[in-house]
Amino acid sequence: MKTPVRVAVTGAAGQIAYSLLFRIAAGDMLGRDQPVILQLLEIPPAMDALKGVAMELEDCAFPLLAGMTLSDKAEEAFRDADFALLVGARPRGPGMERKDLLEANAQIFSTQGKALNDVASRGIKVLVVGNPANTNALIASRNAPDLDARAFTSMTRLDHNRAIAQLAAKTGAETTDVQRMIVWGNHSATQYPDISQATVKGKAAPDLVPRDWYEKEFIPTVQQRGAAIIKARGASSAASAASSAIDHVRDWVMGTPDGDWVSMGIPSDGSYGIEEGLMYSFPVTCRNGEYSIVQDLSVDEFSRSMMQATETELREERDGVAHLLP
Ligand code: NAD
Ligand code: LMR
Repeated sequence: MKTPVRVAVTGAAGQIAYSLLFRIAAGDMLGRDQPVILQLLEIPPAMDALKGVAMELEDCAFPLLAGMTLSDKAEEAFRDADFALLVGARPRGPGMERKDLLEANAQIFSTQGKALNDVASRGIKVLVVGNPANTNALIASRNAPDLDARAFTSMTRLDHNRAIAQLAAKTGAETTDVQRMIVWGNHSATQYPDISQATVKGKAAPDLVPRDWYEKEFIPTVQQRGAAIIKARGASSAASAASSAIDHVRDWVMGTPDGDWVSMGIPSDGSYGIEEGLMYSFPVTCRNGEYSIVQDLSVDEFSRSMMQATETELREERDGVAHLLP
């Protein structure tokens, strides 16, 4: 059996965590041969609820769950952590955009970035789920100057998976038939779910669906899916968000399938003309625990304008939290 790894999860008594923790402990994220120690962080009023979640985790008798710690102090929860899933943040309600949460949530990520910098494993991998996820990840990263900036990522895998599901349904295919989907930019209503490179059973997706459907139905449906779920459920997506977080970390660690890629919010290196340092979602392949942006994809005029619109929004979000970016 391998040596256990330490996985810190924030917002551990919340909705997403209620799905996420059980799947991590079952081995869905890091493999069925990788024991995990869960280091759970909550705020003081939620510590009782967190104890209940921990009791349930215990009651599952997961063979891979090698230990658990519960804390309301980031420096305890992040100590020696190999992975940190930063979920804890306020969710939006009906009628809000995710960036409306910036004021409420940004401070959390500045504090947690500093704590990660001080106590986490130097090889940590961080996934930010709490909204607005891209800018929160940027804040956390900039407050952790001693950690590799590339260790900080934000979640657009849910959008990526949503886009695959919509295209599969439209073409009467299985989700596994769809490859090379891309979500560019921000996890927000300006994101650009792009099918220009996608294939369905090996055939070019743009040849299989009407352009009108792509522009007027597919793109808005994916962009607005989070809001549609809030309207229907009265609460934001939780199990699907947890499942995408599992997918994100699993593929980062174990690699993407040959011939395919995934979308991840990562610090831009200037590829595709996106401002360096912005936390922007790109198509990436993963090998040996490292991600690389897929290069040299053709970008037409429509795609360029969509990619720039979401970049502009990310610049505005970043400029709005300049006081939290050392
Ligand atoms: P929730 O309100 O059910 O749970 C959030 C938990 O975080 C609460 O238990 C709260 O006590 C805790 N928390 C708050 N501040 C904290 C802090 N400083 N440290 C540790 N814990 C803290 O919300 P949820 O449904 O689990 O959603 C969590 C976040 O994830 C929201 O911001 C939501 O918008 C976001 N989200 C992102 C995606 C995505 O695709 N990136 C998808 C779904 C939800
Ligand atoms: C989602 O995409 O479902 C989440 O970001 C929650 C939200 O606010 O839409």
